Amino acid sequence: MNLIKEIDKRKTFGIISHPDAGKTTLTEKLLLFGGAIQIAGAVKSNKIKKHATSDFMEIEKQRGISVATSVMAFEYRDKQINILDTPGHKDFAEDTYRTLTAVDSAIVVIDVAKGVEEQTENLVKVCRRRNTPMIVFINKLDREGKDGFDLLDEVEGKLGMKACPLSWPIGMGQRFQGVYNLYENKLRLFSSHGKQTEDETIEISNLDDTRLDELVGEAAANELREELEMIKEVYPDFDKIAYQKGELNPVFFGSAINNFGVKEMLDCFVEIAPGPLARDTEERSVLPTEDKFTGFVFKIHANMDPNHRDRIAFLRVCSGVFQRNTNYYHVRQEKKMKFANPTMFMASRKNIIDDAYPGDIVGLYDSGNFKIGDSVTEGEVIHFKGIPSFSPEQFRFINNADPLKYKQLDKGVKQLMEEGVAQLFTKLDNNRKIIGTVGALQFDVIKYRLEHEYGAKCDYESMPMHKACWVSAKNEAALQELKSRRSRNLALDKDGKLVYLAESAWTLKMAQDNHPDIEFHTSSEF
Ligand code: G4P
Repeated sequence: MNLIKEIDKRKTFGIISHPDAGKTTLTEKLLLFGGAIQIAGAVKSNKIKKHATSDFMEIEKQRGISVATSVMAFEYRDKQINILDTPGHKDFAEDTYRTLTAVDSAIVVIDVAKGVEEQTENLVKVCRRRNTPMIVFINKLDREGKDGFDLLDEVEGKLGMKACPLSWPIGMGQRFQGVYNLYENKLRLFSSHGKQTEDETIEISNLDDTRLDELVGEAAANELREELEMIKEVYPDFDKIAYQKGELNPVFFGSAINNFGVKEMLDCFVEIAPGPLARDTEERSVLPTEDKFTGFVFKIHANMDPNHRDRIAFLRVCSGVFQRNTNYYHVRQEKKMKFANPTMFMASRKNIIDDAYPGDIVGLYDSGNFKIGDSVTEGEVIHFKGIPSFSPEQFRFINNADPLKYKQLDKGVKQLMEEGVAQLFTKLDNNRKIIGTVGALQFDVIKYRLEHEYGAKCDYESMPMHKACWVSAKNEAALQELKSRRSRNLALDKDGKLVYLAESAWTLKMAQDNHPDIEFHTSSEF
């Protein structure tokens, strides 16, 4: 059947890394292999550069770039590969977390010299919550870096992964000679800025083969033999099922900028990466092979042009076939909707599409109907799970700075929160509004956009706050006690869920001790 064939073709994944590890470069090389772009340099980085954080026009420009590169689809070996772009900048971490709810697997890029960095840890944690299968790509082998085994230790220790090296480097930096592909038992010799083709690999299935000494020199060949022996002893054999369950993580080494080691990974990826997976809803699990269409919105992008307030909602198709100009059901709003111009993104091009299959990401023009997490179906009432909010790190009161523009401010704040730019909390005791963000940059973005897109002005008032924790109570009496004793610290989030605002780690601990029947959660889904 057509649906099953289409599902089998799809691989939808995201690349995650700490900024500067090489995510953009790797994405570009993958697109080159897929023929989605012809020349290097065609993929613009969507990262908000550090030096540009106070330059609003730059932010605006980059928002535009990031919508074009939000999803990139290409074909490779009969598979349709959808890469979902994830901002690497820490201030946009929430956006990345949500995007990761729409992937079926991930590739984690690590800089050989820097090893596992903070943002990699945070993002991998989010993937691990959902048991997302992950492949690790250790990048920049053309430079001096950490020892391969030390890096595997970091991958296991800091990321909590079970490493399974599928390629192994021969030297690094000046001495970098290539990689041995353990998945296919082939040797690939390093050439900088290579155009990898099939015939460049050398099949060496028996490591005692003297050709190895001839090709890389006796010392390097012996070192490789010893290291591979050690890998065999210490690390598990590759097991596709374990990888797909998120319990085993293949590791590749290479140099993205030199297009080296990338093909090994891509070839392995298309063979082992899972296709569209079942997705949980509050009501039941949805299988991609079900006849009826279902999907959910995981990202909303504002239009670049302030004169056109419409937005693009990114919907992940979870089951059935999504079709243009067909009546679908918007579950939260309980209404029917039709989409005349659904789009798919092919590298930097946008195409209007007639149908889309599970695993695909469709861009829907939206005039304010969608919120992140919304479900769209053929009529069934289901709510997709797994799109949590996490505790922000920075908090400020937001005040109206222009009394005549109260309505505009209200509308602007509401829409920006629906886009997921930041989180809004309303205090229980005095109804004051608090904006919570991951980084300071969002406060500037919100202020700028309120003024330019909604004609509203706001001021911020700093508030020292450590964390927002969603609370649940074991019994009603405990909840009432918390409300009466701690109303100053309580607020409602955008969905009306109760949140405890803790000034410090110490006050949070005190609250936990004093209210043993209350559970404090750092994410909205528990
Ligand atoms: P990101 O998206 O993860 O933030 O990283 P990006 O690809 O932009 O790469 C960050 C920097 O690392 C870039 O240099 C890029 O050229 C370099 N890079 C990527 N892969 C490799 C590699 O395999 N080897 C080496 N030596 N460098 C690599 P930049 O100077 O910051 O930017 P650019 O001026 O080159 O664009």
